[in-house]
Amino acid sequence: MNGNLLIKNAAEVVTCSGFEAKQGAAMNALHIITDGAVRITGGRIQQVGPTAEIDTGAITADDTVIDATGCCVLPGFVDPHTHFVFGGYRPEEFVQRLEGQSYMQIMQQGGGIARTVAATRAAGAEELYHAGRQRLDTLLANGVTTVEGKSGYGLDKETELKQLDVMARLQRDHPVDVVPTFLGAHAVLPEYKGREDDFIDFLIDDVLPAVVQNNRAKFCDVFCEAKVFSVAQSRRLLQAAQAAGLKARLHADEIVALGGAELAAELKAVSADHLLQVSDEGIRQMAAAGVVATLLPATAFNLREPFAPARKLIDNGCAVALATDLNPGSSFTASIPLLIALATLEMKMTIAETVTALTLNAAAAVGRAGDIGSLDPGKAGDLAILNFPSHHFLAYHLATNCVGRVIKNGRVVHGPPPKET
Ligand code: NIG
Ligand code: FE
Repeated sequence: MNGNLLIKNAAEVVTCSGFEAKQGAAMNALHIITDGAVRITGGRIQQVGPTAEIDTGAITADDTVIDATGCCVLPGFVDPHTHFVFGGYRPEEFVQRLEGQSYMQIMQQGGGIARTVAATRAAGAEELYHAGRQRLDTLLANGVTTVEGKSGYGLDKETELKQLDVMARLQRDHPVDVVPTFLGAHAVLPEYKGREDDFIDFLIDDVLPAVVQNNRAKFCDVFCEAKVFSVAQSRRLLQAAQAAGLKARLHADEIVALGGAELAAELKAVSADHLLQVSDEGIRQMAAAGVVATLLPATAFNLREPFAPARKLIDNGCAVALATDLNPGSSFTASIPLLIALATLEMKMTIAETVTALTLNAAAAVGRAGDIGSLDPGKAGDLAILNFPSHHFLAYHLATNCVGRVIKNGRVVHGPPPKET
């Protein structure tokens, strides 16, 4: 496969056309072409339109042709918030939560993130690499072609860098693109209880320079939450990271309305994530500042917390993205179908808004809306092909993976190889 690919006769090509996040009502505009085709040359999208109008003169015997009769073609999904590189598992905490304990109670008792930190420190890079690779395979089978991945299970210099280096290796070896985020401020370990500012100093002075030096991360993130990092501590770290060349994103207003959304707007962060408790003022400021609201409904569902107010966010002009939050504690799932079910049936998003939230807006949430997230000429040839004729099946075929083939940079990387032409 040379990265030259023609997909033709698709029942529907959903382009999601655009080069920046769609805010508010614009999220409903999907730009659908019936009996559509996509031509990719050298891995980049060359032409999108009705099959009858595609220029087929340049196709050679080395190029791949897929007859997508009866199929819907979409941009590859982007998962803009995961913690997919981690050691160990925490099934006992799921059982504790079923018995009535809360996520924060378990964390206060020394469980939660601290447990995964211990397991990730103990794990070798090779072990983390293989576990991460399998999780990327699962995401790919769900139609995901780009994923954001966070450190944050080291909380010491060595292990934070180990996680980021594993992600760099996976970026080289695996078809799914990995956007790395430095999340050193993910939890407060017992030795830093009451000395959170000292820990922020340590991250800024000792860890951040090493992260930046080798271009190990694109983003800096922080768990801005009551009993974790305050708004002031989050601001200090994110400003230092921005000064060092990283983009900012936050875990904001998840359990308590602390003002994380307002901080995201103030710092012009690319994305504020979770937002279960976001205030009306936070929504207003995020819409005005163009901060993407990345919602993680699988986490709210799993923790039995109220869902983020997706309707209110969209109706007040925010750009909403959706992500799995794949991690061993609050959301051990890579299921895009589960996200779609929760977004439509529980958060009352339309199917079109949901598709925008998983494609163009998710691309914007990782700072890449100019390059991925829609089927526009010039963008990367990243596509998901459904086994069904319309994008409605994504929601209607409840909690079921409808993706038959996945294309990355014009090459089939998941699903049956195309027949020889
Ligand atoms: O996004 N809220 C903080 N971080 C993760 C959970 C990580 C964990 O429990 O291991 C989240 O939900
Ligand atoms: Fe998270």
